[in-house]
Amino acid sequence: MNAEKDIYILGIESSCDETSIAVVKNGRVVLSNIISSQIDIHKRFGGVVPEIASRNHTMAIVNVLDEAVKNAGISLDDIDAVAVTYGAGLVGALLVGVSAAKSLSYMLKKPLIAVNHIRAHIAANYLNNSNLVPPFLCAVVSGGHTELVNIKDYISYEILGSTQDDAAGEAFDKVARLLGLGYPGGPEIDKLAKLGNSNIEFFKHAKTISDGYNFSYSGLKTAAVNYIHNQKAKGNEINIPDICASFTYYAIEPIVEKAFTATLNLGYENIALAGGVAANSYLRERFLEMGEKYKVNVHIPPLALCTDNAAMVASMGYYNYINNVNIADMTLNANPSL
Ligand code: KG4
Ligand code: ZN
Repeated sequence: MNAEKDIYILGIESSCDETSIAVVKNGRVVLSNIISSQIDIHKRFGGVVPEIASRNHTMAIVNVLDEAVKNAGISLDDIDAVAVTYGAGLVGALLVGVSAAKSLSYMLKKPLIAVNHIRAHIAANYLNNSNLVPPFLCAVVSGGHTELVNIKDYISYEILGSTQDDAAGEAFDKVARLLGLGYPGGPEIDKLAKLGNSNIEFFKHAKTISDGYNFSYSGLKTAAVNYIHNQKAKGNEINIPDICASFTYYAIEPIVEKAFTATLNLGYENIALAGGVAANSYLRERFLEMGEKYKVNVHIPPLALCTDNAAMVASMGYYNYINNVNIADMTLNANPSL
């Protein structure tokens, strides 16, 4: 492969409730990143309804593709490969992206690259003038994952620890629902936490810290649920901002502590954040503070690249492509539990 030639990857993401298509140059430069979000559609149901998600992906994907190619200022023939998220996610939703990617790959006679959604979240750190190169430690914190990952190079990694039960984002969403906040709950809790104090003692005994580099969120979630129910039963007024601030504190601190311990133990100079919960302002602020304290370079994607988008898929697809990894064919299928 000629190293001098620019490589354009078209990325497709449809694993949950965002239909997104992007064009990324050389794995690093975002030429376009169109995101059609279904959040407003699912809001009224308090969460993502899988069948509705699939149908809306189908309706949106052709227009999103048109816009992504037009905004990138290239033609479809300039694309070197088509990269698509094939898991993890909702099976029907994933299939829309996988089918579109297969059709494009077949039509354009360009390679099809399979991308793992979580690896794509990590690759969001390579975009937007980032100077990050492996190795580094990445804390992946999303609606489905809470993991510390040792990124050894662009294609090899080791999961050092993960949640033993609920993911952090899932816990944010459940507590938010109980407090009557909208969907998705994470951003709502983030907003309200800024108005409250993290001084509620009820989380004191919640077991958010599991052994080693692992996490556990079910104890914290139950503590929150019990506290809210007890207060309601006693007829006490609930201080929602304080609950949000306390929950945020206890949910985030173990991630910060363990991620920096792992980075220092590995002797790495770089640490990164990835996944939807990486949009959390307290988590971002704590990473920056700790980076300063321990002289570790902190990398955090801009907000729009933390939640689901196709630019991150195209970036990961690029590194798979140039390393000849995960090159797929017409037998590629969605893998919801990847
Ligand atoms: O990565 P993502 O978009 O989807 C998955 O791959 O899971 O993450 C979605 C999760 C949701 O649980 C959402 O509540 C959470 O990220 N989230 C946040 C914030 N923004 C999104 N959690 C806390 N604070 C935020 N600002
Ligand atoms: Zn995601």
